[in-house]
Amino acid sequence: MQLCHERDLPEGASRGFDPHGIGQDTVLVVRWAGRLHAYADACPHHQTPMAWRKDHYLNAAGDRIVCAAHGALFEIATGRCTLGPCLGESLTPIPLTLQADGSVHLAEKK
Ligand code: FES
Repeated sequence: MQLCHERDLPEGASRGFDPHGIGQDTVLVVRWAGRLHAYADACPHHQTPMAWRKDHYLNAAGDRIVCAAHGALFEIATGRCTLGPCLGESLTPIPLTLQADGSVHLAEKK
């Protein structure tokens, strides 16, 4: 299932997606250090969506994913919570595939 084109995610950008059409974003993708990192848009603290505004998932420094509800911070590369009420827990990684034409897809479940 296609999410976007990789050019839609320049370095430091984050975006939310609603691939299953449920009316709220359930997948977040961040490009950081050149790579795309995708996680379920559900904070381990209360399983709530995390954007503080549509497509805004990063802290002011742009080096952590932040949950808008209670401020938990997560490493972008690993999804591990480094500060906040779910310290030590992790976001759920979402596998992506990048096609030759640059389109970004959810990886097929096996
Ligand atoms: S719901 Fe994310 S920090 Fe509380």
